[in-house]
Amino acid sequence: MARLLSLKKLLLVYFVMSTGALLWLILNFGLFCHTSSKEEETLLTKTRELRHWEERLRRRERDLQKKPQQDASLPTIYAIMPTHTRHVQKAELTRLAQTFLHVKNFHWILVEDSHSRTDLVTSFLASCGIKYTHLNIKTPEDYQLKETDPNWLKPRGVEQRNVGLQWLREHLDEDSDKGVVYFADDDNTYSLQLFDEMRQTRGVSVWPVGLVGGMRFERPVVEHGRVVRWYTYWRPERPFAIDMAGFAVNLQLILENPQAKFELRVRRGYLESSLLEHLITMDELEPLADNCTKVLVWHTRTEKPKMKQENQLIQLGRPSDPRIEV
Ligand code: UGA
Ligand code: MN
Repeated sequence: MARLLSLKKLLLVYFVMSTGALLWLILNFGLFCHTSSKEEETLLTKTRELRHWEERLRRRERDLQKKPQQDASLPTIYAIMPTHTRHVQKAELTRLAQTFLHVKNFHWILVEDSHSRTDLVTSFLASCGIKYTHLNIKTPEDYQLKETDPNWLKPRGVEQRNVGLQWLREHLDEDSDKGVVYFADDDNTYSLQLFDEMRQTRGVSVWPVGLVGGMRFERPVVEHGRVVRWYTYWRPERPFAIDMAGFAVNLQLILENPQAKFELRVRRGYLESSLLEHLITMDELEPLADNCTKVLVWHTRTEKPKMKQENQLIQLGRPSDPRIEV
């Protein structure tokens, strides 16, 4: 694979250099000899063609650089991520893709909360340079948040994560596929170090999450290498008082327990417990990030952009150009 890449690079360098030399010759041709207008026209066309090819080569080179490295000896990280249509969606996905591109053996399972896969996400994924699976499922009507509802009223991304789990169970093999499953929000912030940590997960691993639960951080409290309780203001007595971003599960455990999934009809704050209770007990958890003392993921929430002027233009019959994707 490495040899193939360097061969590709060598070819690219050869192409770029020979194209450059040709271009230089053509551009300087006029200085050395007199040409007829017909010849000039042909030269111009050729120059334009060369520029076009040069640009294509440059783009190909950029794409090659973008491809994340793979290492067959490492388990794959399967990141199941619900996502839904809104103004900031493409910006969030771009931000995250530019993190995930740095992670080895990463498989992005993006699940849209929609009746069908949207054009925006489809074309975004096709050019993001990351290995991915694109799925969709619409949250049932009764469980959808209304525009005016506070966001804690109903759990979000539940059916999407379950569809992601179902995909793993249908497509991966307990004996041959080695991996770690992580449930990511499309608006969080992830340190690259987090993925190095979670790759070690043998059962279920846990770590702190920053900017969550109305606090600077929440975290599992570790004594003598074991998780003994939860540092959280709200309901620390929950079986797993931990945010979705604060744990990862070994793929084997997911495949061995086909009944384990997230519960849609769950009390507020018990979504994470609804899955984990099927898989593990508190004393079996593997504390990571220096015994749960380092924050490597932040529960950031992006501000909803105001669209006052956009809406005024719509009312005036002069909406912005819908062909421009934002
Ligand atoms: C927090 C946790 O970070 C979530 O992982 C957890 O699902 C949620 O609590 C919960 O209790 O349900 P928060 O950051 O407030 O959630 O939630 P969002 O980021 O708004 O939503 C979580 C994920 O679901 C996101 O990836 C989002 O794009 C997706 N989502 C949200 C949908 O698929 N559909 C929606 O209608 C809303
Ligand atoms: Mn979120």
